[in-house]
This record gives sequence, C-alpha cells and structure tokens, in this order.
Amino acid sequence: MASLLILLGAPGAGKGTQAVRLSAALGMPHISTGDLFRANLRDATPIGMKAKEYMDAGKLVPDEIVLDMLFERVAAPDCAEGYLLDGFPRTLPQAQALEGRLGPQDKVTVLELRVPDEAIVGRAAGRLVCRKCGATQHREFSPPKTEGVCDACGGELYQRRDDTPEVVRERLRVYHEQTAPLVDFYSAKGLLASVDGSKSPDEVFQELEAALAERG
Ligand code: AP5
Ligand code: MG
Ligand code: ZN
Repeated sequence: MASLLILLGAPGAGKGTQAVRLSAALGMPHISTGDLFRANLRDATPIGMKAKEYMDAGKLVPDEIVLDMLFERVAAPDCAEGYLLDGFPRTLPQAQALEGRLGPQDKVTVLELRVPDEAIVGRAAGRLVCRKCGATQHREFSPPKTEGVCDACGGELYQRRDDTPEVVRERLRVYHEQTAPLVDFYSAKGLLASVDGSKSPDEVFQELEAALAERG
C-alpha cells in the first residue's frame, strides 16, 4: 500500500515551499514535475528539449510527455511506500492516468493551497531559486542573508525564466482553465482538504499538518 500526497495550487501558491517541509516532516520523497523538467532542460535531454518551448510560454507540457517522465520516476524504489506530488496532476487526463495506476489499497490525499491571483504575480516576480539544492527564497518575503547566495547551502540563487510578469499571467490563466477543475474532481471523491495559502509559510505548514492529522 502506498500513500500519496498531492499538492494542488496555482503557480506561486507555495507548493514547492511546503513540499520541502512536508517531505522532511513525513520522510516522503518530494516529486515536482516542474523540477524534473528543469533538470532535463539543464542536462539537454530529449524530454528537456521538448518541454522548453511550452515552459517558456507558460503553457502545459503535453500530457504524454509528463506521464512518461512521472511514471518512470515514481517506479523508483524510494517511492514504494508513498510520495509527495508537487505540480502533478495538472489536467483531468493526468489525474485519470494516475488513478489508473493505483492499487485498491493506495491512499490519496489532496492538499489545496488557496492564494488570490493578486498575490501570485508578486510572489513569482521576487522568487529566487538555488541552483545547487533547489531551495526557494524570495527577495522580499524571505530575503537571503547574503545577496545571491542560498541560506541553506551557499549555492547560487537565480531567477526562473518563466517568472516574468507576462509568463506568470499566462500560467495563471492556464491554471484556472486546465488545473482548477481538479479541485471539484478530488472534492467529489472526498479526498480534498483546502488551506489558506496566503498566510505565512509557517502558518500554512501548520494548517497542512492539521489537515493531515484530521484525515488520519
Ligand atoms: P512548476 O515548476 O510546477 O511551476 P508552477 O506550478 O507554476 O508553480 P511554481 O513552482 O511557480 O510555484 P510553487 O507553488 O511551487 O511556489 P513556491 O513554493 O516556489 O511548473 C513549471 C512549468 O513546467 C509549467 O508551467 C509547465 O510548463 C511545466 N509542467 C510542470 N508540471 C506539469 C504537468 N504536470 N503538466 C504539464 N506541464 C507541467 O513559492 C513561490 C514564491 O513565493 C517563492 O519565492 C516563495 O519563497 C514565496 N512564498 C511561498 N510561500 C509563501 C508564503 N506563504 N508567503 C509569502 N511568500 C511565499
Ligand atoms: Mg514549484
Ligand atoms: Zn541551496
């Protein structure tokens, strides 16, 4: 039996930030399809080359590419008891494909981070990501102690290519059109818990832990 946690939320809602904490607290591998694509892009693999044009434009990468990459990753031994998904599923066909792979004993919990659209653009515009460890900081909300240097590991901080205001707005539009329907999909199955993602990262984490404790 595997236990799956799915973090659902708009771009910049804090999925990555909370996934790192939950993964450490629960001892579950953190699997971000966005991070997998960025690693493929960095290594110039065929998947990375295919994904690039979609990511740069703020569009979703086609389902079949995402599904092949994700299912290969979760077949690894570290995922046998469960895993934490960040940024997947993002379309109804992706959710159905995931469902099709699960056994009757597998347990799914979906945690939705709700953040108003107005807050999203500022979060993405100020985001800084560590090249070495992948940690996320923010120019204003969690400024690095030394400019350009990751607090966690001393690696170099950079700005994502898709964090320009225009691309963020397109990612938000795509989220509302293609991913937001998953809220109803999982809610109808009784698998969804929603938390207010506009609070501080510590408060959001506490609410997520409380939501998980409630579900047992
Ligand atoms: P992906 O990398 O998943 O990007 P995203 O969903 O747009 O989400 P982000 O990573 O931008 O935001 P986040 O929710 O992780 O927020 P974070 O914690 O960093 O995907 C990128 C692209 O890959 C997609 O556009 C698509 O092309 C492709 N892709 C990926 N998965 C796919 C799939 N399944 N299907 C098809 N295509 C796919 O926080 C953001 C900022 O806010 C940070 O600076 C952080 O420090 C700050 N912050 C976080 N929490 C708080 C808080 N509580 N208060 C204040 N600031 C906060
Ligand atoms: Mg992320
Ligand atoms: Zn780092």
